[in-house]
Amino acid sequence: PAAGWSIAADVVVVGSGVAGLTAALRCEAAGLRTVVVTKARLDDGSTRWAQGGIAAALGEGDTPEQHLDDTLVAGAGLCDEEAVRLLVTEGPDAVRRLIETGARFDESEGELALTREGGHHRRRIAHAGGDATGAEISRALVEAVRARGMRTVENALVLDLLTDAEGRTAGVTLHVMGEGQHDGVGAVHAPAVVLATGGMGQVFSATTNPSVSTGDGVALALRAGAEVSDLEFVQFHPTVLFLGADAEGQQPLVSEAVRGEGAHLIDADGVRFMVGQHELAELAPRDIVAKGITRRMLEQDAEHMYLDARHFGAEMWEHRFPTILAACRAHGIDPVTAPVPVAPAAHYASGGVRTDSHGRTTVPGLYACGEVACTGVHGANRLASNSLLEGLVYAERIADDIAANGLHARVPQPLPHPEIPEHPLQTPEARFTIQRIMTAGAGVLRSAGSLTKAADQLQRLHTDAREALAENGKTAEAGVDTWEATNLLCVARVLVAAALLREETRGCHWREDRPERDDSAWRRHIVVTLNPDRT
Ligand code: SIN
Repeated sequence: PAAGWSIAADVVVVGSGVAGLTAALRCEAAGLRTVVVTKARLDDGSTRWAQGGIAAALGEGDTPEQHLDDTLVAGAGLCDEEAVRLLVTEGPDAVRRLIETGARFDESEGELALTREGGHHRRRIAHAGGDATGAEISRALVEAVRARGMRTVENALVLDLLTDAEGRTAGVTLHVMGEGQHDGVGAVHAPAVVLATGGMGQVFSATTNPSVSTGDGVALALRAGAEVSDLEFVQFHPTVLFLGADAEGQQPLVSEAVRGEGAHLIDADGVRFMVGQHELAELAPRDIVAKGITRRMLEQDAEHMYLDARHFGAEMWEHRFPTILAACRAHGIDPVTAPVPVAPAAHYASGGVRTDSHGRTTVPGLYACGEVACTGVHGANRLASNSLLEGLVYAERIADDIAANGLHARVPQPLPHPEIPEHPLQTPEARFTIQRIMTAGAGVLRSAGSLTKAADQLQRLHTDAREALAENGKTAEAGVDTWEATNLLCVARVLVAAALLREETRGCHWREDRPERDDSAWRRHIVVTLNPDRT
């Protein structure tokens, strides 16, 4: 079918978390006609759920160089040092600009209050509302977008990239549900598209990510022929509230900042098992803590470990971690009087759509920032609280690049209504099948055997849908659920293929059958492009 409506802009930003809204506000400020499209409501993405905070060398005695060192160590040999340098040097001013935009961070004696998290040798994490940093950042940015009267389209699921005859970006197609004049399938024509669609945590059964994190941006980029890198590096957050071995969907996070303020990890016997495993014990980089927990769970045949912060007392819990306290109590656990059951769950995609230092992907005019992107700053394992910072810094760099390149002359007049090609869509139920396959085969612990099995099962889902479309012209009805399942399958297949290829253990990629890091063969990235004829 042809798109039913079309609008024109200089820039379309897809996604409305910290990265998307920062890019949009700065593009608008530069005089570019900017449209923000987002799959649910403006504040429905992952940013709102971020607890711990935003890392930047803002404290006395701290320097970007020290922040750089900690980031490189966490990244396990795969960070792009120049990308990290940009992040840590531009970060402090980017945070100050965020404060000018309206975000209110916690203070202590008139200065920003800074905490610690895993892998940081210093207190450098700014936070808001105690443990509600993302919610405050989201509030401030959404308010700023509304105050400036910027054009936004909510409930708009992005489908595919539009390109012109030279292969340059020309906009995106969208499926919009119930937004007045833009209802149904349509297009935003723009010579610059900024993907800021967030992560793909929903590819696993249990994740800290909201239900909208279905890898839409990475899947779109793959279909558009862009390069995607490092997808095997999925970070599992060590301390997610354990709600049962069969818990599915978004699970409550227990921020690393709780450990940063002195909570201990203990096993079923009450032993602090991280002590002696790393000089930073519970505050070791996230991959090391997630592995420490998983190992001890296997040794004790336990479904979870415990986070013990009873010594904080009621007042500190209420003041410093009100969100986590409320989530625990809502599930019948009182951290003031009992240790909190925790286990690792999928949290962050360190890889994504490959970009340069200006957020440019390998498709001209297509940019990516935030979790959907792979700028090179995270390497094999993201340092805690670097993600909000990356969203800010690289979104600003993208806006500056678009403004400097004067792309806006390229929108065609009159606007065409592009054809929407038929895709082999998955059924809504396939989402849960994919999650179970991925959790069993490509979770915290992987092996050639588990990954091969997962790859075969995913391939069958894909082949069945392709054959049904090719042979009978049948596909699941286009809608959010079917597109999300299709995108999840697309990213899951690439993730598993990359994890199978990487025959070593590094950062958050843990191969049982290849337990050592192999710098001679694997100090390099796995970069993937899809052949559109053979997807
Ligand atoms: C947390 O608060 O533990 C999450 C921080 C992060 O993922 O960077």
